[in-house]
Amino acid sequence: EKSLKVALLGCGTVGAQVARILLEDAAALADRSGAALELTGIAVRNTASERDVQLPAELFTTDANSLIDQADVVIELLGGLHPAGDYIARALKRGASVITGNKALIAAQGAQLNQLAAEHGAQLRYEAAVAGAIPILRPIADSLAGDHITKVMGIVNGTTNFILDAMDSTGAAFDDVLAQAQALGYAEADPTADVGGHDAAAKAAILASLAFHTTVSSDQVHTEGITEVSAQDVAAAAEAGYVIKLLAIAEHAEAGVSVRVYPSLIKRSHPLASVRGAFNAVFVEAENAGDLMFYGAGAGGNPTASAVMGDVVAVARQLAAGAGLPNGSADQPVNLLDFEQI
Ligand code: HSE
Repeated sequence: EKSLKVALLGCGTVGAQVARILLEDAAALADRSGAALELTGIAVRNTASERDVQLPAELFTTDANSLIDQADVVIELLGGLHPAGDYIARALKRGASVITGNKALIAAQGAQLNQLAAEHGAQLRYEAAVAGAIPILRPIADSLAGDHITKVMGIVNGTTNFILDAMDSTGAAFDDVLAQAQALGYAEADPTADVGGHDAAAKAAILASLAFHTTVSSDQVHTEGITEVSAQDVAAAAEAGYVIKLLAIAEHAEAGVSVRVYPSLIKRSHPLASVRGAFNAVFVEAENAGDLMFYGAGAGGNPTASAVMGDVVAVARQLAAGAGLPNGSADQPVNLLDFEQI
């Protein structure tokens, strides 16, 4: 059986779950990929730190470069521009494929990194960078590649949606709810990226770049966060039949592209108003497809790890088989169940 060496960089909220899935689900992943996925190591800053998941101590190392230099697939979940960007570049230059959830890095340097991957025959995938578990980048980049996308709009930051939702439903104070969002593993290491709108801006830049076949970087996104939204604002909106949501909007009009992030008043009857907690929702408008809606968990360890693992299997399939069905996926026995009422 073929085997691929997988290096994991980072073992935080998402990284720990990715390591768990790679180890626990090894048989199914091998079956779907057409190759065994061998987790060769996890690079971290401090090998003694406590993790969300109990993992074999011998996997941990502080030497990311050595791991990268013998890997077929590198999963980068460190976040931040440095040293994550250097590690990704190092891997791609070797021809290793890279999966990352690093929206800040992709929003800042996605074009250069895609170019580097192409030059070295490597794959670069980052589904987990936008809207957690929701498959949104592949639908935009692949499924809608034959259409013209005119608008992408939605809630793409779980932390701020969690905060605004809690302020709306319980009248809680901003700071208390932020602490909860951090404890639940939704917020970035530096939560000012969430509440300041910068995390959503990075995601909006990535969505706009893919949807409109161009390069939009975070600093081209008009960005307003939720730090100025008070309990009184939330209450006044509720009184008038509205809810406040942090929206990301990317539009492609005749005159050009516009991308912006700001707190907006949404009518309670609008589908976006029912997006609760750390959930995300993204609407896509395309000339021929019409309106599409994507909804799901936008943050958190397991949901985001799901998106990472989807990319890992996609990369592994290509590396293992080139084209065609991966080994075994056509012969699974099936139990047909009676219809259930939902
Ligand atoms: N901090 C991000 C959020 C994590 O709250 O949406 C998912 O990208």
